[in-house]
Amino acid sequence: MGERRSVALSGDGLQPNAMVVESVVQAVLASPKYAALDPALVASLAAQELRKGRRVKEAIKKVKDRLHQSAASYWKVPPHYARWRVALEAAEDEPVLKAQLQSILQTHHSSRERLPFLADFYQTIFAGLASLRSVLDLGCGLNPLALPWMGLPTETAYFACDIDREQVAFLDWWLARQGRRGRAFVWNLLAGAPPVELVDVALLLKMATCLAQLDPAALARLLDEVRASVFVISFPAQSLGGRDKGMVAHYAATMDALLSGRNWRVERFDFSTELVFRVRKD
Ligand SMILES: C[S@@+](CC[C@H](N)C(=O)[O-])C[C@H]1O[C@@H](n2cnc3c(N)ncnc32)[C@H](O)[C@@H]1O
Repeated sequence: MGERRSVALSGDGLQPNAMVVESVVQAVLASPKYAALDPALVASLAAQELRKGRRVKEAIKKVKDRLHQSAASYWKVPPHYARWRVALEAAEDEPVLKAQLQSILQTHHSSRERLPFLADFYQTIFAGLASLRSVLDLGCGLNPLALPWMGLPTETAYFACDIDREQVAFLDWWLARQGRRGRAFVWNLLAGAPPVELVDVALLLKMATCLAQLDPAALARLLDEVRASVFVISFPAQSLGGRDKGMVAHYAATMDALLSGRNWRVERFDFSTELVFRVRKD
């Protein structure tokens, strides 16, 4: 028996069949590596791949590849949220809590690379931003766990979004445990700005590559759509394998292109493994 047709011709061109899209989504979510990811994002990638005329098996593989590149590849080991909750709950003082947090932050490439200069990083990016009422962390990874190093006033609300439902549930629990106003929630940034009111600072830390991999126009769209006075946009200064492949020059050029035609004030900060731009829209 031949494979089901994945697309049908309509007035607008190739329209993927909803049942076929759903079968790709179910196949992708059946894999433990992708099971917690936002089904709406998986469905939109599945529709994109089927629209290219791919067969179901090929579409499943392509969607998995793209989710690997944009999310799953950053984990050094699979996350253990239940175990982490227990460890954080058991931490009896600040030094033990920070040691536990550092060992959790080690498990994700993006936060692991930042550990050697964590306090300096936040001191630099928040310097001179008086009375911060709110921070929005877009594609947060495990970054909200760095709150004890951020030096934010207790009343500053922290909003964080990502595409992994279990990760976000864990981070929401963590924010509540810290007594921090705000929340962590599932949001696919390809769908635009998350539903949060005007914030003082929006973080887009090491998001350019993974967003570009899903939609090359996504980052520029977010800069226009997210309601924030200040954006902190960062890029990795080396590849996941630890090699410098001229990435700093490449991302500096990416940032120039992003800002061209926008009359925004820009500051640049160079850390050993991260290139950071702070942009004010006013
Ligand atoms: C390179 S990591 C950066 C994590 C964090 N910003 C940091 O620097 O520590 C990319 C993050 O973006 C998330 N992500 C990927 N695609 C996304 C999307 N479409 N919407 C929201 N988050 C996404 C991934 O799950 C992952 O946590």
